[in-house]
This record gives sequence, structure tokens and C-alpha cells, in this order.
Amino acid sequence: MGDPRLQGISDAIRVVPHFPKKGIMFQDITTLLLDHKAFKDTIDIFVERYRDMAISVVAGVEARGFMFGPSIALAIGAKFVPLRKPGKLPGKVISEAYELEYGNDCLAVHVGAVQPEERVLIIDDLVATGGTLSAAIRLLERVGAEVVECGCVIGVPEFKGRRRLNGKPLYILVEPR
Ligand code: PRP
Repeated sequence: MGDPRLQGISDAIRVVPHFPKKGIMFQDITTLLLDHKAFKDTIDIFVERYRDMAISVVAGVEARGFMFGPSIALAIGAKFVPLRKPGKLPGKVISEAYELEYGNDCLAVHVGAVQPEERVLIIDDLVATGGTLSAAIRLLERVGAEVVECGCVIGVPEFKGRRRLNGKPLYILVEPR
């Protein structure tokens, strides 16, 4: 960890064994949100990276991408666009399905929220298999946007999620504790 702030961020993430099911070491970022310094450092690191990259849209993945994305968007002068699970957005949507370990899920975006050619940063709390981020990339590319990068607080290396992102860069702050 080159940046001294990263250790504090990692330490602020609570690990909850066997949640939501046996064998999963859940990475709980709600404790990071309770720690003002660690939360601010998290946002600051993303802002320092993205403020001069001409990004006009920060797209946050439901649900925990909503906890980091809007602060980053405000600080870099971009708009925030929520990518939501099915049946949540009231307007006309475009949807993209993706596979989970058991079953399928779907992300949707409001038609017109992102304009063709806009430069988009996708934010989520965690990348594991990369299935969620790859669906977010496909969704945004279908509306003609340019996905500049995906940014996540936590990256789980053994799932090799980076490989599923169709060559898009992935920026992560810490690995699971
Ligand atoms: C978690 C996490 C990411 C996704 C990462 O969300 O917040 O969005 O899983 O996993 P992947 O890289 O294997 O796709 P979850 O699906 O639990 O949804 P939630 O945030 O709505 O609870």
C-alpha cells in the first residue's frame, strides 16, 4: 500500500464471517462510513484520480455504489446517475441482465440520463467476479457512452473480476481483509 491513507481505509471495513451465507467473508463498508477520516480519505483518493479526466457522469451501482458515487460526482463536477435493480426506476429504462452465482439479476438506467459520447466513471463498493460491473459497462455502452474506468473500494483478487471488464480499466483501493 503506497498511499498511507489506504491502511486506515482497510482497517475501517468490518469483516463479517458467514454473511449472508456460510463461507462468505462479508466486507461491510457501513463501518467505513462511520469513520469520518477513512470515509473522507476514500472519497478524496477517487477525486484526486478522476478530477482532471473530463468525466461528466458518475454512475453508481445499486446499492453500495450509491454511498460513494454522489460525493465523488459533486467533487469532480459530474452528474450522478444511479444504475438500479429491476422495478425501481419510474421512467423509461434500458436494462442489462447478468448472471449471479445462483440466478440472474439486472441493472437499469433511465433513458436520457446519460447522453451518447459522455465520459462515464462507474463506481461500486466491491468487485468480485466482475459480473455486475461488466453488465454496467454493457448498459452504458448501449446508450453510446464512453466508459472511462470502473472504480471500487474493494477488489477481491481471487475472483479475477478484472478479466470480465472487456478491457476497461479497473481501479481498486484495497483488497479484502
Ligand atoms: C455486491 C457488490 C457489488 C457486487 C459485486 O452487490 O456491492 O455490486 O456484489 O459482485 P460481482 O463482482 O461478483 O458481480 P450485491 O449483488 O450483493 O447487491 P446489493 O448491493 O444490492 O446488495
